[in-house]
Amino acid sequence: MVAQAERRVRTRSWRQNAEDLVAQAASILRRNDTGDWTRAAPSLYPHQWSWDSAVIAIGLAHLDTCRAAQELRTLFAHQWKTGKVPHIVFNPKAPPHSYYPGAEHWACAASSPDAPPAPPYTSCLCQPPVHAIAALRIWEAAGREDEKARAAATSFLREIYPKLLAWHRYLATFRDPEQSGLVTIYHPWASGTDNSPRWDGALAAVEVGEMFTYPRYDLQHVDDPSERPASAEYDRYLWLVKLIKRAGCDEGAIYRSHPFLVKDVLFSAILVAANEALLEIAEVVEAPDEERELVVVWAGRGRQGLEKCWDEKHNMCLDYDLRADRPLRGRTVAGFAPLIAGGQSPQRLAALLGELGSPTFAGHPELRWPLPPSTSPQDRGFHPRSYWRGPTWPVVNWLLWWSLRQAGETGLAERIRRAALDQIISGGFAEYFEPFTGEPLGSNSQSWTAAVVLDWLLSDSLREPGMAA
Ligand code: DGY
Repeated sequence: MVAQAERRVRTRSWRQNAEDLVAQAASILRRNDTGDWTRAAPSLYPHQWSWDSAVIAIGLAHLDTCRAAQELRTLFAHQWKTGKVPHIVFNPKAPPHSYYPGAEHWACAASSPDAPPAPPYTSCLCQPPVHAIAALRIWEAAGREDEKARAAATSFLREIYPKLLAWHRYLATFRDPEQSGLVTIYHPWASGTDNSPRWDGALAAVEVGEMFTYPRYDLQHVDDPSERPASAEYDRYLWLVKLIKRAGCDEGAIYRSHPFLVKDVLFSAILVAANEALLEIAEVVEAPDEERELVVVWAGRGRQGLEKCWDEKHNMCLDYDLRADRPLRGRTVAGFAPLIAGGQSPQRLAALLGELGSPTFAGHPELRWPLPPSTSPQDRGFHPRSYWRGPTWPVVNWLLWWSLRQAGETGLAERIRRAALDQIISGGFAEYFEPFTGEPLGSNSQSWTAAVVLDWLLSDSLREPGMAA
């Protein structure tokens, strides 16, 4: 099937392929659109996911800046009083038995005094904060349209700015009481990289108590169960949810009692980049100086925190297990966190780029495309088909591409963009890909895969001559 698609693709020009991709990506986002927000995927993820939505808004910005703004507006309508943006807003119209744990399981979160009005219910976790980056990109895209679009986007920034500030303040305080600059997560789902080997050490120490039986609806949406996290991982995920519920979703109580408490370098790096975007937004909306100074402090502290997690031996950043008081060793794409945070010294940048292109990651000789697997094939936790244990993720390629461009590494960024697009041209809009064969895995018609394709092909400086949006 993939070979047949590749033959067809080879006979067509890059420009024709690119035009088809744009049309297909736009159609996926239309089909997954519920009106005000977009399903992360048609059946596997029938709800609104936080970081998916932010990336989706970046893609939508190329089609309709007002609709892109609405994506974030809808998500932030469910922000908690603490400033937390929930990782899932549950869709009351999702088909029964489509996702677990769903609204019924998380309904308890609504009894927290900090929760937003429900229904719709939300989870009480959160996910990496790509939102300020998305909001800024919507405004930039609107600026390329006309005066009216720019005015609407500026008023959107005025509306969303205080919410973004509250979100980042939540992460800088509740999620970093140590003021280390690093965000603490209390569930692997919050990292967005659920079953990555980066969490194996910390999860191994979680003793699962008496467990109830639960359904694995996720498995009915993929061809092969090995593409999804294993049962032992799910037991731990659900046990941790049980403990979070037992703590009443109270941040302080969770911090005191929870067995899984980890400083996440990828989350923290995205927050640094998002704080830089927030500063630009603050400029547009003429925010008070004290607020801008605060954001500068958060960004600086974040970079210092990441610096402390640098591991000379592996040329990467390592997550930190607060419970065991030790770094979590694992060679995963999260280790490139400083690249995403930006502002690195030439030496550090060279070390990161060297590692990225080495046989440990994108330079591995057997890869179908020179794109970094989510986990290095040299890591003992590597599994080429299992979710974040090895497959290549378009959204990660996008994050790296975006960061490399910010760092002025346009040549490498372009090679990643071309390879990532070739992967999608041949395998479709999959959630993730087997790195050696290029087989599409997980969900198909994944919204954020469509969104990054639009950004790759419709960003002004990259558009093929004559190609329409
Ligand atoms: C899932 O259900 O796979 C999600 O990653 C949890 O947010």
